[in-house]
Amino acid sequence: PSRRTVRDIQARKGGEPVVCLTAYTTPSARLLDPHVDLLLVGDSLGMVLYGMPTTLGVTLDMMIAHGQAVMRGSDRALVVVDMPFGSVQESPALAFRNAARVLAETGAAAVKIEGGREMAETVAFLVARGVPVMGHVGLRPQMVHAMGGFRAQGRDDAGAQALMDDARAIAEAGAFSMVVEGTVVDVAERVTEAVPVPTIGIGASVACDGQILVAEDMLGLFQDFTPRFVKKYADLAGATDAAVAAYAADVRARRFPGPEHTFKGAK
Ligand code: KIV
Ligand code: NA
Repeated sequence: PSRRTVRDIQARKGGEPVVCLTAYTTPSARLLDPHVDLLLVGDSLGMVLYGMPTTLGVTLDMMIAHGQAVMRGSDRALVVVDMPFGSVQESPALAFRNAARVLAETGAAAVKIEGGREMAETVAFLVARGVPVMGHVGLRPQMVHAMGGFRAQGRDDAGAQALMDDARAIAEAGAFSMVVEGTVVDVAERVTEAVPVPTIGIGASVACDGQILVAEDMLGLFQDFTPRFVKKYADLAGATDAAVAAYAADVRARRFPGPEHTFKGAK
């Protein structure tokens, strides 16, 4: 089966919702790939996999290593790799050099860039030179220090207008789709109406053209905190806790390994 392309995703505007999840590793990509249209190698991996307090410490090399892992574990979904903090903000030229490394070294077909109007020039620069870009507007975790924390965006008229302007600018710059994170229902609706490319919501209501969650959040594996917008579809942390407790008890009682797990000698 051939992979979904950026054109396939773009063509879903207003149609069948685009199903997206994050993936960071080969085994998780293998499990998710049959079910989704798009796998995002999100820089959330800094917090979810590495225990960092924010996404700001994630490096381009980390994103490339995990992008390679996800490509190895998938053959259906479009794979999009996040550009980490510091890899795109300085200039369009630096952003292109770093995004080109991501595409060349991972084989992924697109990158995602957090940002609004201030990143539009960079998005246009990349798109014109063969790097498909997914935008990311609304709550932007790489701006955590500038914003003084994580909070929903667009709650007042000025904020709603700013988010609309950001989304329009990123669409006009040529993004094939955009994540809309952490905003109120009516702003998500207005943004989705205003831009000609699919909006992928996270904490942004069912009005969006698709949805994304961090896989570890919806699987109940990442429990440092659970935002309001996460629906838990499983309790893998609970299942893991029970399994590890059973293993520990077996080892302590010499119930494991049993005869069926043991190699037999010649005599
Ligand atoms: O890093 C990430 O996982 C993301 C998504 C949640 C949109 O940017
Ligand atoms: Na991200």
